[in-house]
Amino acid sequence: MIMSITPNSGTRSDWAFQAENVTKTYDGEVFANDAITIEVEPGEVYGLLGPNGAGKTTFVKQVIGLLKPTSGSIRVGPYDLVEDPDVARQLCSYLPQAQMPIQSFKMHEAVHITGLIRGGPSDAVRARGDALIEALDLTEWRDTLGHKLSGGVRRLVGFIMTTVWPGKIVILDEPTNDVDPRRRRLLWDQIRLLGSDGAAVFLVTHNVLEAEKAVDRLAIINEGRLIAQGTPSSLKLDDRGRLRLQLMLRPGNGIPELPGLVQHHARVGNNLMMVIDETDAGAGIAWAQQMMEAEVAEEYALGATTLEDVYIRLTGRTSQDDS
Ligand SMILES: Nc1ncnc2c1ncn2[C@@H]1O[C@H](COP(=O)(O)OP(=O)(O)OP(=O)(O)O)[C@@H](O)[C@H]1O
Ligand SMILES: [Mg+2]
Repeated sequence: MIMSITPNSGTRSDWAFQAENVTKTYDGEVFANDAITIEVEPGEVYGLLGPNGAGKTTFVKQVIGLLKPTSGSIRVGPYDLVEDPDVARQLCSYLPQAQMPIQSFKMHEAVHITGLIRGGPSDAVRARGDALIEALDLTEWRDTLGHKLSGGVRRLVGFIMTTVWPGKIVILDEPTNDVDPRRRRLLWDQIRLLGSDGAAVFLVTHNVLEAEKAVDRLAIINEGRLIAQGTPSSLKLDDRGRLRLQLMLRPGNGIPELPGLVQHHARVGNNLMMVIDETDAGAGIAWAQQMMEAEVAEEYALGATTLEDVYIRLTGRTSQDDS
């Protein structure tokens, strides 16, 4: 049992997070996690990306001691989180994927109480809570009861409750769900700051494009297995020399017959995304123009590949498929 864990105490590598070969089967058959190995240093923002059912929530629930791995180990510095789920709960701050229950509390009360429960001193918790409420532009609802808050605001209050007195490990499961684009940007800033303050941050998200800007490293998980891991740029290295060709299909049109130069494609709504070699750029544009003339498409664009294209290549899906 550890008595107190305050943010920023200890040196960096003393608090490294290490998960090794974490495997979790449900009912002895579904491999929700299959030998997942991940190391995260304090100060790193680490993304966990993957389609619905990939095993992301299962993984983080084992980190915080809510589920016991079938096999494998999870350690933070000297502590074994599998052996000692109480320590896991002290070390980790967790924003669950589901909304937090704050019905009968005013926003600032809910924030204050959770900070006290996490062991923060009252004045410091109140000051940080109010600073976060202001930073996420939520001051107008500071005194509003939980059950009167909108879905997106509740999501942000959940984030503040989780991070008002953060542990060494901060785990955020889909923190941006239901949040408007402007406040999502404010939220990403606060997530980055948590890393700068020395926490190791796990960020579970479907939003690949936003994650690309916010994370230091990430893992892509598919069907329980970790299929890629690295910095956003290192994961894009394999796509060097490739371009993204995007076609906005006219409503009611199916996917047209694709020329051989298309290496991968995925469709979200009327948006058809394709990866081509940069040496095929001219031929790609000529084909896209034909699609416009044939009234199959109403717009096209050619640009650099993004992490989204890596995600499509590795999982066979777009991240928007899941949201
Ligand atoms: N309690 C459970 N009993 C049996 N199977 C479960 C249980 N919880 C999850 N699973 C299965 O484990 C797999 C991984 O689920 P998990 O919730 O970890 O996915 P996820 O990556 O978080 O997905 P999402 O993006 O939809 O939140 C899925 O196949 C799911 O059906
Ligand atoms: Mg999940």
